[in-house]
Amino acid sequence: MRIVLLGAPGSGKGTQAKRLKVELGVAHISTGDLLRAAVKAGTPLGVKAKAVMEAGQLVSDDIVLGLLEERLAEPDTKSGFILDGYPRNLAQANALDALLTRVGQPLEAVVKLNVPDAAIVKRCETRFEQEHRADDNPETVRKRLAVYAEQTAPVADFYAQRGLLTEIDGVGAIEAIGDRVLAALRSRTRA
Ligand code: AP5
Ligand code: MG
Repeated sequence: MRIVLLGAPGSGKGTQAKRLKVELGVAHISTGDLLRAAVKAGTPLGVKAKAVMEAGQLVSDDIVLGLLEERLAEPDTKSGFILDGYPRNLAQANALDALLTRVGQPLEAVVKLNVPDAAIVKRCETRFEQEHRADDNPETVRKRLAVYAEQTAPVADFYAQRGLLTEIDGVGAIEAIGDRVLAALRSRTRA
């Protein structure tokens, strides 16, 4: 299955993708994880991306599309994939559309996790204390939420217009949210 997981920063995309990957037997592709790996490895791309990520802004569309294309060429994506953190603006949504149409592998579903900002701020605060992820400091989290509202929220409408979008309540126990996501995906493939 080919799925996009949409949702604000800290809405649980990565957490839910881990389970979906196992249950559906597909690849999990997080552009944030790919970028963090490049930053950690100190590649030229990582050096470019570091300051942008720490400011809570979006890395350039060209850089991220390049990373995504490379990742989609790996064999584990043949059985399908969950995209987590991509697309993040309308230009990326159109680029993805073109890319997947070209290879004859269109998206089958888009799931959006809905979580109120207050809960997100709390989750990121907790993770900042535990893991020290650079962009989880409260000021950058506010910036990431603003970027999401301005640039990523319209992507949900883009997919709603194509009949691909399902919205899920992303508040509650992690397992219960996962059950809701799986039920939604299964009813979609049966439909
Ligand atoms: P990215 O890594 O994609 O981060 P994000 O989308 O901002 O959000 P997170 O990864 O923090 O949240 P998540 O939704 O995965 O939630 P998680 O499961 O971790 O992007 C980082 C940066 O990279 C961007 O700001 C940008 O600079 C750049 N970037 C990435 N993709 C890009 C693109 N396409 N274009 C341009 N730039 C790009 O959960 C969050 C926390 O909450 C965790 O601690 C988790 O344990 C906890 N949690 C999860 N579920 C629950 C629950 N139900 N109840 C309580 N706690 C929970
Ligand atoms: Mg994530």
